[in-house]
Amino acid sequence: MKKLLSILLAVLMVFALVGCGKKDDNSGNGGSTSSDTVKIGVAIYQFDDNFMTLYRQNIQKYFDDLNAKGGTQYELTIVDGANDVATQTEQVNTFISQGVDAMIVNLVQTSSPALAKAVEDSGIPTVFINREIADYQYGPKTCYVGADARDSGTYQGQIIYDQPNHGDLNGDGVVKYIMIMGDPENSDAKFRTEYSIKYLTDNNVAVECLYQETGMWDQAKGQELVASALNSFGDDIEVVFCNNDGMALGAAQSISAAGRKVGEDIYLVGVDALTECCEMVKAGTMTGTVLNDDMGQATAACESVLKLLAGEEITQKVNYVPYVMVTTANADQYIK
Ligand code: GAL
Repeated sequence: MKKLLSILLAVLMVFALVGCGKKDDNSGNGGSTSSDTVKIGVAIYQFDDNFMTLYRQNIQKYFDDLNAKGGTQYELTIVDGANDVATQTEQVNTFISQGVDAMIVNLVQTSSPALAKAVEDSGIPTVFINREIADYQYGPKTCYVGADARDSGTYQGQIIYDQPNHGDLNGDGVVKYIMIMGDPENSDAKFRTEYSIKYLTDNNVAVECLYQETGMWDQAKGQELVASALNSFGDDIEVVFCNNDGMALGAAQSISAAGRKVGEDIYLVGVDALTECCEMVKAGTMTGTVLNDDMGQATAACESVLKLLAGEEITQKVNYVPYVMVTTANADQYIK
């Protein structure tokens, strides 16, 4: 009886083992085994950001599509830095100590290269995205994918310049504007603020800044700031420049709450070409925006990760995906 029991047990164990093996074989598409799974850590500066939400969804989709084709499977862990340096440092250090195969990092802070340095030292192939570290020497296994923020500012200026009176709605010879900035430590915020105005002054338009504040890329903050500026400066404000569309959406709410009409007595521009904003541009409730190509940038970032994983050398360390000016003429094209 004892012998029979132990034979039965042995048979059961063999079945159990075969069962486990089967499960492993089916865990990845195309019958890949766990050694075919590449682990990628993705650190986003803050999930609660319209543009970076699209961006991270595109990254996920890129690898989902690749996984669906079979072969090597990519397992993504995407974490929210909550716009906090300490939180993000811990998240990236955890990726490093877990020994992920590659990383995509959207830094919270670019003014200090400390975290980037830790990434370099780890030797893990990493693509930095969206926030450029000024004057940074990328190592052999890292690179950057973003866009040249100067161009987005220039396009904003051009959109206003292309309006009747070049933005001088009241015809007093000076374009009076307010500037709602993103996080001032980001180069995107700095360059958009500078180059939007530079385009006007380079074209001999006199300007006067009535108000400049940071809305930290956030819609609710944009709404608050523009409401307060409209309260202080009223009809004097001819142009509202917002460093991104999130804040422009907030601005649009305050503009209409104040009884002002975009295109008639005030102009409003943003950057990103969020679908909602392109619809507004089409309808005339926003003057224009600039396509910040979330899909193009996410694709370039994922392709760079694959290259680095394959041991290829990336010689062009800073990869800029072009911006596109969006006005009533082409807004339709960017409505997703
Ligand atoms: C900018 C984008 C903003 C915000 C920011 C975050 O490129 O225009 O909307 O997402 O990146 O760093």
